[in-house]
Formats: sequence, C-alpha cells, structure tokens
Amino acid sequence: MRCSPLHLRCISVVVFLSVTGTLAADPYIFFDWTVSYLTASPLGTRQQVIGINGQFPGPILNVTTNWNVVMNVKNNLDEPLLLTWNGIQQRKNSWQDGVLGTNCPIPAGWNWTYEFQVKDQIGSFFYFPSTNFQRASGGYGGIIVNNREIIPVPFARPDGDVTLFISDWYTKSHKKLRKDVEGKNGLGPPDGILINGFGPFPYTRELASNAIPFGTINVEPGKTYRFRVHNSGIATSLNFRIQNHNLLLVETEGSYTVQQNYTNMDIHVGQSFSFLVTMDQSGSNDYYIVASPRFVTSVKASGVAILRYSSSQGPALGPLPDPPAELDTFFSMNQARSIRLNLSAGAARPNPQGSFKYGQITVTDVYVIVNGPPEMIEGRLRATLNGISYIPPSTPLKLAQQYNISGVYKLDFPKRPMNRHPRVDTSVINGTFKGFVEIIFQNSDTTVKSYHLDGYAFFVVGMDFGLWTENSRSTYNKGDAVARSTTCILVHGRPSWFLWTMLACGTFE
Ligand SMILES: *[C@@H]1O[C@H](CO)[C@@H](O)[C@H](O)[C@H]1NC(C)=O
Ligand SMILES: *[C@@H]1O[C@H](CO)[C@@H](O)[C@H](O)[C@H]1NC(C)=O
Ligand SMILES: *[C@@H]1O[C@H](CO)[C@@H](O)[C@H](O)[C@H]1NC(C)=O
Ligand SMILES: *[C@@H]1O[C@H](CO)[C@@H](O)[C@H](O)[C@H]1NC(C)=O
Ligand SMILES: *[C@@H]1O[C@H](CO)[C@@H](O)[C@H](O)[C@H]1NC(C)=O
Ligand SMILES: *[C@@H]1O[C@H](CO)[C@@H](O)[C@H](O)[C@H]1NC(C)=O
Repeated sequence: MRCSPLHLRCISVVVFLSVTGTLAADPYIFFDWTVSYLTASPLGTRQQVIGINGQFPGPILNVTTNWNVVMNVKNNLDEPLLLTWNGIQQRKNSWQDGVLGTNCPIPAGWNWTYEFQVKDQIGSFFYFPSTNFQRASGGYGGIIVNNREIIPVPFARPDGDVTLFISDWYTKSHKKLRKDVEGKNGLGPPDGILINGFGPFPYTRELASNAIPFGTINVEPGKTYRFRVHNSGIATSLNFRIQNHNLLLVETEGSYTVQQNYTNMDIHVGQSFSFLVTMDQSGSNDYYIVASPRFVTSVKASGVAILRYSSSQGPALGPLPDPPAELDTFFSMNQARSIRLNLSAGAARPNPQGSFKYGQITVTDVYVIVNGPPEMIEGRLRATLNGISYIPPSTPLKLAQQYNISGVYKLDFPKRPMNRHPRVDTSVINGTFKGFVEIIFQNSDTTVKSYHLDGYAFFVVGMDFGLWTENSRSTYNKGDAVARSTTCILVHGRPSWFLWTMLACGTFE
C-alpha cells in the first residue's frame, strides 16, 4: 500500500551519456480505456470486480522506452477513480501520476486523458486504481516497457512473454473492506489467492467438490518464456513457484539483476519480477504454478494455476511444490538480499546500470521512518508514520505548490519519530532540490509492510533485524544494490525488522 507522506516526485539527477544518431522525435501512442464494474466469481461467489475495456485483469500497456502515452480513461464506476502507473518515472508530467497528491480523481461518469512519457526506463510494472481501496476489486493490469532496438538486452530474446498477477482476494467488495479497515475490525484475512483473476486449480479434494475456473498458461516444450509476476494484492506477501521449474531472475521493476536461479520467490505487495523459465521437463503432464501466502496461517487455500505443455497428456501430479518454512523471515530476508544489480548490463540507455555510482553520492537528508500499528485516532483506526496519519487534501499538493495556495499542506514531516501523541495531518517532507536521500524504514508492527515510492526508484542498500543505528551504515551495499520502487519490511517478533534504503532522488515536492 502506498505511504502517503512519501509523495516523492523526482527529476533525474543522473547525467546519462547521450545517444547519437537517434534524433527522431519520440513516438506517441494513443489508448481509450473504459473502467467499469464487471461481474465475476473468482472464488465461486458472484461479486462486482473492476475491469478495463471489459477485461479483468485489464489490458497490458505494452510500450517502448521514450514513447509518449496518451491515455483517455473513462470512469464508468459509481465513485471517483485515479489510475496510477506504478513504477513509471514521470519525468515530463510528474503531476500525471494518478495519486491523490498530484492528480484530482476522475469523477464518476467523466473521462480524463493522462499524458506521460516512459522516459529512460525498461522493464515490468503495473497500473492500478490508487484510491478508495479499489485495487481490492481489481482495476489493475501490466505495464511492459521494452528496450529500444539499439539497446542490447542481457539475455536472449525469450520465445514468449507471460504476465501473471498474484493477489490476495476478498469476496467482500472494496467498499465494504474500506469500512472494515477504518472500523474496529481491520482488514481480516483474505478469502483466497487469485492468479490472473482466477481462483485455485482444485488441488485438494475439498476444492474439487466446488470447482471454479482456474488459469492455464500454454507453453511449448524446450522454449523459454519471460514470466512477469506482479503482486497486485492488498496486504499479503506471496511465495511464487512453478513445480519442477527453475525461475531465472533477470529483472525487477526496471533493474536488470545478476541472473540467478530460484526455486521460489517471495513477492511482496506491489512488487514486480521477471523470470526466464525454460520448459525443460518431460511435459507429459501439467505442472502447478503456485502463489501461497507468507507469514500468515489463516488463508484457506493457495493460488494455483496450471502450466500446460502442448505435449501434456494429463493433469499436474502430486502435492504442490514445497513453500519455504511458513514463518521463516530469515529466508525471506536472505533471498531479498541476494537480488543484485547486474552492473554491466545496459538498461534503458547504452551506458551500463553500474555507471551511476550511487554509493559515492553524498547524502543530503536522512529520514528514519517508523510505522505505528493501527490505532484509533479521531474516531477511526489509522496507521501512522512518525506519529502522523496522512490525510490527502482536496487540492492536490502539486497544484497548491504551483499556485502558492497556503494552508493545504505543512512542510513539517519529521526526520525522526517524535515523542508526542499521534495525529492526523497533511504533513509533507521538505526535501532538497536535487538532493540524495537516505530513508530508513523501521517496522514496529507485527505484519509485513510494503513501501512504494511513487514515481521513482531507490536503491535497497540493506536490511536487518532489530533497531537501526548509525553503525548499521557499515553494512550497506554501496555497489550493486538493486534499484526498485517497492520494497518491504518484514517482521520478526519484536523488535522487528528494519530496512534501510537509500534513495537516488531529485526533487522532493
Ligand atoms: C509488445 O509489443 C512488441 C512490439 O512493440 C511486440 O514485439 C511484443 O510481442 C509485445 N508484447 C506483448 C506481451 O504483447
Ligand atoms: C473525453 O473523451 C472524448 C472522446 O474520446 C475526448 O474527445 C475528450 O478529449 C476527453 N476528455 C478529456 C478531458 O480527456
Ligand atoms: C550481466 O549483463 C551482461 C551484459 O549484458 C551479460 O553479458 C551477463 O551475462 C550478465 N551477467 C549476469 C550474471 O547476469
Ligand atoms: C538455471 O537453471 C537452468 C535449468 O532450469 C539451467 O539450464 C541454467 O544453466 C541455470 N542458470 C544459472 C545462471 O544458474
Ligand atoms: C508562486 O510563488 C513563487 C515564489 O514566490 C513565484 O515565483 C510564482 O510566480 C508564484 N506563482 C503563482 C502562480 O502565483
Ligand atoms: C524547507 O527547507 C528549506 C531549505 O532547508 C528552508 O529554507 C525552508 O525554510 C524550509 N521550509 C519550511 C516550510 O520549513
């Protein structure tokens, strides 16, 4: 979930080598999307879901670096809508990012045209509705930003491209969930896990008695596919795996990684990963694709889809492939630490990713951000960061800034937790223009937290158990940490995990 006080919008401070000989204007691509309710029964119960152009999940936005996207969105829901282009670094029109801090929501029945450039980035991202808890009902879909032809990709062209959404799912509507979250009940455990909007393949007798449609991915023996896997859920970390198949991690949220095989991967809410998967098994039967809940024991069933070779003669066999030990946060942390940037791979530009030496940049500002567990503040259950529960203003921050409207927000977000009563406020970080910021997230709650820094990527330089201290800096990875837009802080009893991140950032707004 988005952390509202951290509406960082950045312009690049990286001086890229310029590409000669490509002076042609960046192309424009036009879309017309209608967002509306559909009826679906992903877990066997008929319910309203949010679709785009009649699809749930929505269509894939498949574009190439530097294209200009002109996206006319019609809101046919019965409430305001904002679509956010998660992980897309809005360098040209930073206010077009579809979050409350920058955009006004599209009123019900209206349409509005987003215009943005997918500038200097590549990789796998996804869009989703950013307000009103609507993501709990869908409205999400994939974003693929392809390399320009002249920029090499650090692996052979895959034989196919598969986008998978894994998510926790509730049979309650997002409107009902919204009320629950603000009331005493809280969110509660999900009713199941979906893969691409489908419920689980009936892998147990109990599920078989109440069979519901499940997802199937058709493949050819011997071929290699790029699986882009997104956790589009609300609250649940998921472990992703494919029976008998290795996941060769190649990219995450726009960073090419050091290529390593994993048998499974913990994917936290909001995160995106690309794996190359080679169909190197006999293929005489189907295989399970599994997304199982992590660190919670209350979810009834895992998400299960089917990988079907064209040569398959029958259903997937045996039990689901083993997950990591249920509550093993050490495993999860070590796995997250093992994800490294391939410094020599070129990303969106010809100069290699490693040429931006983030470890040598002087930090301008340091923020230690501690989340508080939800508590009743002014009549509602609210979570806090450094003792502040953020309230979005009716005037977007960017407009207030642009037109010098005073009283919309306060530039007083504290650099450290304050010893005072929690409060509700529109408190914003007063950042340094073209600064380079270090943010330490410390989790004081008992559940995993996922932080997304909208409109930018940051380097995940370290994470560990316990309390962060100044000495923790000696363990930072200042060489090949991966740059991404979404990271998590796990918990491990108390004191809990903390996560250090260092931001390569331009302006704060
Ligand atoms: C995306 O578009 C490119 C052409 O620009 C095409 O080669 C590729 O197959 C498309 N990918 C998907 C997943 O549709
Ligand atoms: C609404 O859609 C119409 C028809 O597609 C288009 O002409 C108009 O520019 C759109 N309005 C906005 C504000 O995007
Ligand atoms: C890193 O990227 C380079 C350049 O594209 C590629 O040749 C190499 O195989 C990659 N190495 C790893 C370990 O992923
Ligand atoms: C990953 O596993 C595949 C087999 O599934 C193997 O062919 C490949 O060499 C492995 N790659 C790495 C980098 O370990
Ligand atoms: C807002 O204030 C700044 C600095 O005082 C000034 O340069 C700018 O012109 C003002 N903008 C508007 C729209 O009044
Ligand atoms: C924000 O920071 C700048 C630079 O440190 C400072 O000059 C300015 O007074 C601060 N603004 C507020 C409202 O605190």
